[in-house]
Formats: sequence, structure tokens, C-alpha cells
Amino acid sequence: MTRVLITSALPYINGIKHLGNLAGSMLPADVFARFQRAQGREVLYICATDEHGTPAELAATAAGQDVRTYCDEQHRLQHDIGRAFGLSFDWFGRSSSPPNHRLTQHFAEVLESKGLIEERTDKMVYSVDDRRFLPDRYVEGTCPHCAFEKARGDQCDNCGNLLDPTDLINPYSVISGSRNIEVRDTRHLYLLQTQVEDRIRTWVDANAANWPQLTRSIAYKHLDEGLIDRGITRDLAWGIPVMKDGGPRPGFEDKVFYVWFDAPIEYIGATVEWAEATGGNWERWWRTDQGANDLEYVQFMGKDNVAFHTVSFPATILGSEEPWKTVDRLKAFNWLNWYGGKFSTSERRGVFMDAAIEILPPDLWRWYLTANAPEGSDTAFTWEQFQSAVNRDLADVLGNFVNRIAKFAESKFGGLVPDGGEAGPLEIKLISDLDAGIADLTAQMDAIEVRKSAQALRALWVLGNEYLQAAAPWTAIKTDPDRAAVIVRTALNLVALYARLSAPFIPFAAERIVAAFGLEEPLHWPRNGAAEALSTLGAGRTISAPEVLFRKIEDEQLAAWAEQFGGSGQA
Ligand code: 2FM
Ligand code: ZN
Repeated sequence: MTRVLITSALPYINGIKHLGNLAGSMLPADVFARFQRAQGREVLYICATDEHGTPAELAATAAGQDVRTYCDEQHRLQHDIGRAFGLSFDWFGRSSSPPNHRLTQHFAEVLESKGLIEERTDKMVYSVDDRRFLPDRYVEGTCPHCAFEKARGDQCDNCGNLLDPTDLINPYSVISGSRNIEVRDTRHLYLLQTQVEDRIRTWVDANAANWPQLTRSIAYKHLDEGLIDRGITRDLAWGIPVMKDGGPRPGFEDKVFYVWFDAPIEYIGATVEWAEATGGNWERWWRTDQGANDLEYVQFMGKDNVAFHTVSFPATILGSEEPWKTVDRLKAFNWLNWYGGKFSTSERRGVFMDAAIEILPPDLWRWYLTANAPEGSDTAFTWEQFQSAVNRDLADVLGNFVNRIAKFAESKFGGLVPDGGEAGPLEIKLISDLDAGIADLTAQMDAIEVRKSAQALRALWVLGNEYLQAAAPWTAIKTDPDRAAVIVRTALNLVALYARLSAPFIPFAAERIVAAFGLEEPLHWPRNGAAEALSTLGAGRTISAPEVLFRKIEDEQLAAWAEQFGGSGQA
């Protein structure tokens, strides 16, 4: 496939994301997108903020802003911070954008025309004093399971049980605190997932072979439990209005679509936003009757999102019977934990993207979070592991190699790639080791094995250090200048090769090598073997040593951050 569509789960609008969010969707998607571009494929990497639902409304109220202003501001913040981390979105859209309104309403209309949407009456908590229904998080009360007094309408944080707002004992409104609460009838739209269940299973059966085990097991668990019809509207003001025949749907004037109905549709919506802004052709990426059959679609997300992407969103797409592109590979991640506990947005526990980038350059985080990706199981962030990844891998292995050889070339060869000499046994062995290493890295990257890719890349950096150690140009220069020239030329070319291979992981360091060595961009993946890659920089080219690529993290800094972020010592 020469084209790749990539989406990462849409981050909620309610505040800057923590490192766990970054590690489990946007960052691996970015690494994959950069790798695919370097391979010469045409890539469209789409993400957006997920702006609807009660968390958005509640966060806006807490910030003392109207929800639209709050979303405008938070979207800009998340966009900027994503860029600062080098996330190379082709478009970072908004689920509140007009294209998503149109598409969401379109899907609802088509699904209804296929007999897959039905109006039903629900019993919902109503606040008489607030004169409104109180969906999930707008109502709190006593948990019927454990008697915790501040259980939320959707879940009890004390015992973890999932709740329905009507389950709560002594409920009160989160908006006003009023206990003047009744249960009233309200009409909602239901998507009849039970009627598309067979189609979804057939589709999962046909695709699951391409999915990692984690994705597959979650998809089948939900299918095997049996699907239920799902309410796709809510009694809220902020969201996508429910329409019929071009006007507000009678009886639904105060309701909007449920956030999980419109959010995945925004993958398409954001592509339309991209097309409108750039003149691109969105149908080519999404409509199988307009070329989208001819691409690979890869999704990235945390494991809590998998059911929505293997069952609920497919119910929308397949139920429409329209020629939409569906996901080919779905890469899911486990949790990155914060020591023994969880990162928490609402409790601001852990390191968040804004704070992370304030204390250290983005590449350090990118490297740590990919080399320790929460892939096979949940993984705990610890400052000690972070320090070790930065100091041992980046500073000692890659940084040291680049610095040593570039400084040597500056001082002994005036910053010119030296001429003369011929490859000897060490270079021949290096080339064959590199060929094997590059093949391994390429295979792991293709397979989206993030940790294994990082290991394979590190192994390639180690080869360079071993080569330099064995070839010892500082000795050769005293007795055999031609031999020294070969070694330095080879090692400088290795640096250039590392910039190409490392760019998906640590793009900022790669940029600095590009600038110091005057390399041509874009950086291509080496496809014709190491021998060719090592002849990129011909004799006579000028290079300079980049400023120290990676500064080591000192123990004192680490202790200060552990203190500041409340890290180590936590249960
Ligand atoms: O879990 C989350 O963070 C959701 N905002 C993900 C949405 S993914 C997509 F479907 F929009
Ligand atoms: Zn409870």
C-alpha cells in the first residue's frame, strides 16, 4: 500500500493531557506516521479534540467560562503542546466543527432510514430547581453498593461499580446542590446494535487477524457478551443537535447526540476540515468508491477505547451500508501508570504534557515513552527509569557517539569529511551488522511493535560505538592517516544514518544533526542497504559538531522533580 491513513484517539478537551495519554495513542501514532513518510508513502495523520459531553461542560463551569470559549482555548492549548512535542498531525481538528455536525446528523439520518434507530422512553434524573435532566456526571449521591456518599451518576469512585444515575440513593444536582430531584420520563434515540451484531461479527472475523491480541480479545469479549441497543442522545445543551427533515427533531430540542456517537465520526470530520483548509480530497481517504480501498487505515488508542472502535463505531459505519473505509490495523495500548497508581486528569496526578516540556526537551520524553511503551502490559512511570533511559541510551550511547566523532573530525580534519583509504574488515563487518539491524528495525516498525523498534534502534547505535572503539581512529591518526580517514568518514556517515533512522523517535535531535551536517531533507529511510547509506556524505563535505545532543539528568534534578510532582514514595 502506498497510502496510509492514521488516526490517534481524540483527546478529551477537558485540560492538558498527561504522559499516559501521550504514550498510549498520539506519540506512537506520530512515530508510525513519521516512519511511513520516510518510507515514501503518502500519509494522512489525523487527530482532533473530543469536545462534547458532560466532562467538557463541567470543566468549563469549573473554569468559569462558557463552554464554547473554554473549548476554543483548550483546543489551541492542546494543539500547541502537541506541536511542541513534535506530533506531526496533518490535521488537528475539533469534534465541534461544522463538518462533524453535518456528518453526525447524516449518519443518524441514514441509520434511521435503514430502520436502525428508534425513539424510546427512558427514566432519567430530573432536577426541579435547575429545570433540567441530569445526565451521568451531573448527579451525585450515595452508592447503592458501598454507601460512599459522593458517587457519580456513571460510576462510584470508591468501589468502582458502574452506575446509572437512577441507582443513586439521596441524589443531588452537581450544578446547584439541590436535592429536589425526581425521576422523569425522557425520550431518546437508540441505535439498534442488536440488529447489526451479525454484520459486526462478520467484519471482526474478517479483520481480527491483523489486530494485536489485546485488540482482538476486547472485541470478542464484547461480541460474546452480546450487544445491546445503545442510547445515542443525551439531555444536554452542548453538543450536536438532533435534527429531522432539515429542522430540530420534535421533542429533541433540548437534546444532543451522545459524545461517543459523534467522537469517532470526527475522524472523518477532521479529514473534511483538512480538505476544506488545504484543498485536499477527503473522499479519497474515506470513501471506498473513491479510492479509499487502496490504502491502509491504522488506528491508535488506549485499551479503554477499543470496544468503541471495534463494535460501536463499526455499528454506525456498517449500519449505514455506505462505502466507508473501515480500520485495517488497530493498535491498542495498556496503561502507563504513575508509580503504583493511575495518572488522573481530574486530580492532576502525574506529569502533564505542559509541565513535562517545561522541564526537559521533548525528545527525552518521546524516547522514554516509546522505549517503555505500555504495550504488553501496564507499565509504571518512575523517575529512575526515565533517568536511566535518558542517560544510558540517549546521552551515553547516541549522544556520545555523535559528539565524539564530530569533534574528532573538527579537530583533526578541519570539519571536512576526509578523503582517502579503503574499507577494511571492520567496515565490512559493520555494514553486514547494520544491514541485519536495519532489517530488524524496519520489520518492527512495520509491525508497530513500539518497544521492539526502540530496542532495535538502540542496538544500531551500539554498533556505532563498538565500531569506533574497535577502529580507534585516535590511534590510527598517529600512524596511518588513510586508515583514520576511512574510519572518520564511515563514522560521520553513521551519524547521518542515525539521523534518518532515529527521526521518527527523536525528531528534534535528528534535526540538529541535519543542520550540523548539512543533510538533505526530507530524510529517507535507507532502502538500499547500509553500504549505500554509508556513502551519503562524500569526501570534502563540511560538517560541524552539534551542541551536546542530550544533557544527562543529574540525581539532584531527579530528586527535585520527584518532590515537585509527588512521584516516588507514592503507593
Ligand atoms: O478516551 C478518550 O480520551 C476519548 N476522548 C477518545 C475518543 S476516540 C474517538 F473515538 F473519538
Ligand atoms: Zn460504591
